[in-house]
Amino acid sequence: MTDRHELRLGVNIDHVATIRNARGGGHPDPLRAAHIAAAAGADGITAHLREDRRHISDEDIDRLMDQLTLPLNLEMAATDEMMEIALRHRPHAVCLVPENREERTTEGGLDVAGQHNRLAPMIAELSAASARVSLFIEADQRQLEAAVSLKAPVVELHAGAYCDACFDGDGATAGRELERLQEAATAGASMGLEVHVGHGLTFDTVGPVAAMPEVKELNIGHFLIGEAIFIGLDASIRKMRALMDEARAETLGA
Ligand code: PXP
Repeated sequence: MTDRHELRLGVNIDHVATIRNARGGGHPDPLRAAHIAAAAGADGITAHLREDRRHISDEDIDRLMDQLTLPLNLEMAATDEMMEIALRHRPHAVCLVPENREERTTEGGLDVAGQHNRLAPMIAELSAASARVSLFIEADQRQLEAAVSLKAPVVELHAGAYCDACFDGDGATAGRELERLQEAATAGASMGLEVHVGHGLTFDTVGPVAAMPEVKELNIGHFLIGEAIFIGLDASIRKMRALMDEARAETLGA
């Protein structure tokens, strides 16, 4: 991703494809959303090609690779099929995520500690193809250590538990989950990992995460696309960008 911002924003366009697929056809087009995101201040585009192709399609990935002006972060499960696709396209970044067929969304982090031997050759191959490999993990010391031993340059910390607690109005749990994210961000950065955060972030939850100086990138999708229904995609992304920049500026100024 480009480094024009201290804290990068990756816009996940999966749910533009979800809406398109509800009716088949080509509207709304995720590529058009990606162009709007670029103009609104995104540093990169994230797309999750799922095994069941419920939103992003293979053709979307072809078009994004051909026509996107921003770097693509391809989210995918660690499977042979996805490895073949990633190695063929060589996107800027590959984020390895867990995938269960029955889940509505990515429900937890990837157990990289438990799958070390299976993941090691995949990460090596992706890195050799010059994709920046990121591992989507829980904010957990054991997973961070495994990421280091797997030579992954980047981890993305799962923000779901923090965001869910904020949504439920459970302030004490939200505070604990935020602390867990902060501790993992600090530990990860001190171990030489680049730290990203994603999943479930909204206008209300983004500030405290954006304020963490170790965090270099946020990947945000569902809320931005949902909010676009009310205020438009450009405005939705610009507002998120502004909230992120504001929170980070406060940290840097402090
Ligand atoms: N990061 C990762 C690794 C994800 O799997 C997802 C969801 O696909 C996101 C970020 C974006 O989450 P959300 O759509 O809840 O903003």
